[in-house]
Amino acid sequence: MLITRIEKDGLMGRKTGNALATPIAGALGADVRGIDLSEPLSDDVWAALETAFLDHKVLAIRDQTLDPATFLAFSKRWGDVHFYPYMDGLPEEPEVFEILAKPDAQRIFGNRWHSDQMYDPTPVKVTLLYAKDLPPVGGDTLFSNLELAYEHLSDGMKTMLSGLKIYCDGADKSRYGGMSREQWYAKGGMAEKLNAPEQEPVIGIHPLIRTHPETGRKCLYIGDQVQRFDGMSAEDSKPLLDYLMKHIERPEFTCRVQWEPGTLVLWDNRCTCHYAIADYAGHTRRMHRVTIAGDVPV
Ligand code: OGA
Ligand code: MN
Repeated sequence: MLITRIEKDGLMGRKTGNALATPIAGALGADVRGIDLSEPLSDDVWAALETAFLDHKVLAIRDQTLDPATFLAFSKRWGDVHFYPYMDGLPEEPEVFEILAKPDAQRIFGNRWHSDQMYDPTPVKVTLLYAKDLPPVGGDTLFSNLELAYEHLSDGMKTMLSGLKIYCDGADKSRYGGMSREQWYAKGGMAEKLNAPEQEPVIGIHPLIRTHPETGRKCLYIGDQVQRFDGMSAEDSKPLLDYLMKHIERPEFTCRVQWEPGTLVLWDNRCTCHYAIADYAGHTRRMHRVTIAGDVPV
């Protein structure tokens, strides 16, 4: 273990962003209160939001009342919508998806450390998730700051990792306990939302050390959609992958968002991983979700 205490300020560059955003942990994440996304945002507020997003990587914007069209309009200010092939959207807004966990769900969407759609040659930039129905308690989401995770590797390890590429396969059944994506969705109670695409890209090969296109900061770009390192077998890759996956889960790199009615969370998939906690059996959790298209990772 390289460190006993996270040195954040030197790494993050900026400290607390601005008055709009209040950090919720040392590593990443901030609460945003006092704005109403159903009203047009002033240029100042919009600029403060963008700065806070790059500073904190995860923003929990509280107390919103958004219909799907308004949610989508706000989402589109972050870029073009990323097409998610595997699910049908809402009838009234096909670019907005409903993520549903029924009380008897046996699988919870996102219940593993991952960054969204790493198996896509151009993975998602921003995911926006808006709470519609929450369990009485539980259903929080964890996030990990992959820039901190990178910084806290030793120099020798950084050098060793610098040329590696990750090989991600979105159709790999081992991720779903041997099940197809269809079977997996059905276990979560979302069978009726399934869309079965024929010709969608499912292989992404990306640099393991990714440079953020806006901030220039490096991160350890890894998540459970990585099968192996490019040019290496799964068997050869496993010890190092296991080590790095464990590394990014260190509590010091993480924050935990507790959802409230009306919370909208947006996160930067280019430098974070997240994990949906499956601790609310017997209750419903329903979210609206939009994903925004990103760049080819470099
Ligand atoms: C997602 C996801 C986490 C959650 O929507 O991509 O992983 O807590 N969601 O629902
Ligand atoms: Mn996800």
